[in-house]
Amino acid sequence: MKPESSLSRRQFIATTGAALVASQLPAAESDLDKLALEGGEKIIKRPPPKRVRWGEPERAQLDATLAQDTLLYWKAPQTTLLAKRFSDHTGLKHVMTCSSGTAALHIAVATAGIGPGDEVITTPFTDIGTVIGVLFQQAVPVFADLEPHTYAVSARTVEPLITPKTKAIIAVHLGGNPSQLAELKALADKHKLILIEDCAQAWGAKYQGASIGTVGHMACFSLQQSKHITCGDGGIVASNDERFGPLLHRFGDKGSDRAQPGYRPERLATNYRMNELSAGFAAAQFTRLEEIAAKRSALGELLTRELAGVAGVSCPQVSEKNRCTYWHYMMRLWPDKLRCTRTEFVKAAAAEGLGLSDGYIPQMLHQSPMFSQHAFFAGRWPVKEMGLTTMDYTKVKLPEAEAILKTCSNFSLNEAMDEDYIRSAAAAIRKVVKHFVK
Ligand SMILES: Cc1ncc(COP(=O)(O)O)c(C=O)c1O
Repeated sequence: MKPESSLSRRQFIATTGAALVASQLPAAESDLDKLALEGGEKIIKRPPPKRVRWGEPERAQLDATLAQDTLLYWKAPQTTLLAKRFSDHTGLKHVMTCSSGTAALHIAVATAGIGPGDEVITTPFTDIGTVIGVLFQQAVPVFADLEPHTYAVSARTVEPLITPKTKAIIAVHLGGNPSQLAELKALADKHKLILIEDCAQAWGAKYQGASIGTVGHMACFSLQQSKHITCGDGGIVASNDERFGPLLHRFGDKGSDRAQPGYRPERLATNYRMNELSAGFAAAQFTRLEEIAAKRSALGELLTRELAGVAGVSCPQVSEKNRCTYWHYMMRLWPDKLRCTRTEFVKAAAAEGLGLSDGYIPQMLHQSPMFSQHAFFAGRWPVKEMGLTTMDYTKVKLPEAEAILKTCSNFSLNEAMDEDYIRSAAAAIRKVVKHFVK
């Protein structure tokens, strides 16, 4: 066999893998140290493997749905199947399928009895769907600061914001990383608050070995296109709490209890029903969930190991015994350690063949004009005009959340990737860091 030393540098790189070479050769000797942006050799030469998200199981379920004589959810076969698969997966027994994660959250907030002037503490670093229901109930989202490495609210950041008006906490498991739920639940219990888990990005995640969604009083999931499993748009709200579980379907179905004769509206609620076509599709997607979750979890952990000790980059922190399912892999790029802006880092990584995002959401929720102008309902905010809240979103200061907003970058990890791809992603990051590190 030809000794390694007699290979050309290019052959050697091809044989041993770019990642290995980049990390092992001294800077001056490696062609790969030169950024691809500046004419050096690109680390990742193949695009990420394509995800195949649906196929025969979904087709079979849609065919079965077409053979039915109803597409309405109530006591219908596909919805029943979806609810059963969801219950088997999570252990949550009261289940309402609905039209989106936003709808699931609105149903949960309404079921919790949250109304005008009530306060709900949550994160500003989330999709607006987390708080749309709060606002539509005429309640007041109160934004808490975040932990620097989980990007989530914690008991430490929530507790100082609790007032006599506080009714609930919404914990968002951002990127599939379970929040510190035991502490949040203890805090909720201490102050008689309702804990709602926003699991929109956390399908398949586990908290201390149990399915995500089982610590809080209610759990909300999204089946929107970008989530681990999907039916295009959809959601599920669920609970094991006998106070809330039996009410869930009313708040998703125009305030009426279909189990009672007459189908009379008892409460004001909108129509958030999911139809049978979506339910059948989502039920089929459940057959893929465990594999997707396990794969993402393993790949995310691998990336964290590969990036351990790399200066200028920090990885998401997942607590021991929890399972993060990495809806995205959010890192922080530390400006005090790097001689480049986040945009320059992302550009350099892109030239190496690695897609990273230049941030997450453009601004935190309370910084958007709708919040800063308190202009939720045709330019007005009735609860403020009525004196039910003194909230002024222009005065909210959340230093850690702001720092995260400015320094975060997402890698869109997914289950079609393999370990080699993740190792090359890490090599690309290490190479860019090596170039820019102070
Ligand atoms: C954390 C979080 N909460 C709520 C939602 C709302 O879900 P949907 O888009 O299904 O309404 C999303 C959607 O992206 C989300 O990421």
